[in-house]
Amino acid sequence: MPFKRRARMLQWLGCTRLGPLWLWKALLVCVAFAFAGQLLGVIFNKSLPSGRSALSAPEQGPSLGSCQPHTHIMFLKTHKTASSTVLNMLYRFGEGRGLRFALPLGYQLGYPLPFNAHRVKGYRAPGEPSFHIMGNHMRFNRAEVEKVMPSDAFYFSIVRDPVALAESSFAYYKEVAPAFRKARSLGEFADNPHKFFDPRLRNNHYARNLLWFDFGLDHNANFSSALARHGVRVIQQVFTLVLVSEYFDQSMILLRHALCWPLDAVVSFSLNARQQKPEPSGSWVIKAAPVHAKVMPNLSLTEEQREKLREWNALDWALYEAFNRTFWERVHKFGSERMQREVGLLRARREELAKVCLRDGGKPVEAQRIRDKTIRPFQSGVVKILGYELQPRLDNATRTACLRMIRPEIQYKDVLDAKQFPRSPSPRCAKCS
Ligand SMILES: *[C@@H]1O[C@H](CO)[C@@H](O)[C@H](O)[C@H]1NC(C)=O
Ligand SMILES: *[C@@H]1O[C@H](CO)[C@@H](O)[C@H](O)[C@H]1NC(C)=O
Ligand SMILES: *[C@@H]1O[C@H](CO)[C@@H](O)[C@H](O)[C@H]1NC(C)=O
Ligand SMILES: *[C@@H]1O[C@H](CO)[C@@H](O)[C@H](O)[C@H]1NC(C)=O
Repeated sequence: MPFKRRARMLQWLGCTRLGPLWLWKALLVCVAFAFAGQLLGVIFNKSLPSGRSALSAPEQGPSLGSCQPHTHIMFLKTHKTASSTVLNMLYRFGEGRGLRFALPLGYQLGYPLPFNAHRVKGYRAPGEPSFHIMGNHMRFNRAEVEKVMPSDAFYFSIVRDPVALAESSFAYYKEVAPAFRKARSLGEFADNPHKFFDPRLRNNHYARNLLWFDFGLDHNANFSSALARHGVRVIQQVFTLVLVSEYFDQSMILLRHALCWPLDAVVSFSLNARQQKPEPSGSWVIKAAPVHAKVMPNLSLTEEQREKLREWNALDWALYEAFNRTFWERVHKFGSERMQREVGLLRARREELAKVCLRDGGKPVEAQRIRDKTIRPFQSGVVKILGYELQPRLDNATRTACLRMIRPEIQYKDVLDAKQFPRSPSPRCAKCS
């Protein structure tokens, strides 16, 4: 046993508090305890292959009736909304069934420019070749998207409370968006956004109505409720389902039923989580481990500043309220009790898979601590992006399934790219490891 670890374990057992008189006897007892603990650990690890069955037969979940799984899917991946986790599901589902992805030439589909079909690798002409799934970051542009995707594609997206979104955006894009760079804290920005914001500067879209922008609408337009209603209508004409980050698990149940997918297809571990202080009501989404205050931008807000951020992002706020409303209407139609039941199953399954797949009880870890460099998440800006480690000694099939669930977005795109275009090596992501 490595010395440091043994020392920690001894400390944990209370051994360091004993007086010198008892020292040698106590030490012996402690070593015995520590050894027993280690032994139990080994036995526990050895017993893991029982989890094999948990993955070899994918959990189907409650019956979906006689529907056929959707395989033509367009996901608008909005920023800072847990959308990386959703994209991971699409990647897994498509990879497992050999579906064709409309992949970007690089890592985003021309963002922040409005989407253009020629940004898709291998695209030649409308409908040619045919793609099944598109889901990388883009600024939505309906006419161009329709050139790439089949006409029966299922369109969906995800939104998040604009204040939470602003916090996340400030943390990630503090050094990227000029409007954020000049502000010492998010609170200072919220107090007077106009002082910091110049609409002509590149990357300032991260600082105002980012959802509205991603949906391809004018994020600098002056707010009016008529304009907001119009925006919502335009989106609803195209998008069959709009999910809500704050209700991620309920969102996954609605998605699974809309797409006619098995339960396991929508079970996920939170990807691309930002390191932050733990919050009392721990959910799996966008949550992670404790933080070094030094690396974290100052995100503290007063209630007044929250209100100011809602005003500043009034178009997004209207969008969020509208889609939150339609979301809950759908939940009620689905049946509230039925929803509760299925969310319970989803959470139980997530815990089960975390036990099988993840090391250290599934706690996200800092990237540089992840031994396997190919699954280290890409680091952006000043915050640390967390990742996971796999349990050691998994059998091949389980390892493959688990790896798909934790493989970071950028590496996953490279894997799919290499499968779809075996002859042309994809550009390696230099910053990934
Ligand atoms: C964070 O910013 C607020 C103002 O927005 C300020 O009052 C507070 O002292 C700052 N906190 C730290 C730790 O710097
Ligand atoms: C928004 O309104 C202000 C005045 O209230 C006006 O100066 C500005 O040009 C308007 N912006 C747009 C994009 O219409
Ligand atoms: C979203 O909907 C839920 C359920 O109706 C409600 O409790 C919550 O206040 C809504 N949030 C917003 C921002 O409208
Ligand atoms: C694991 O499976 C993959 C593909 O299914 C195969 O290429 C590889 O050789 C297997 N590895 C082991 C150690 O069995």
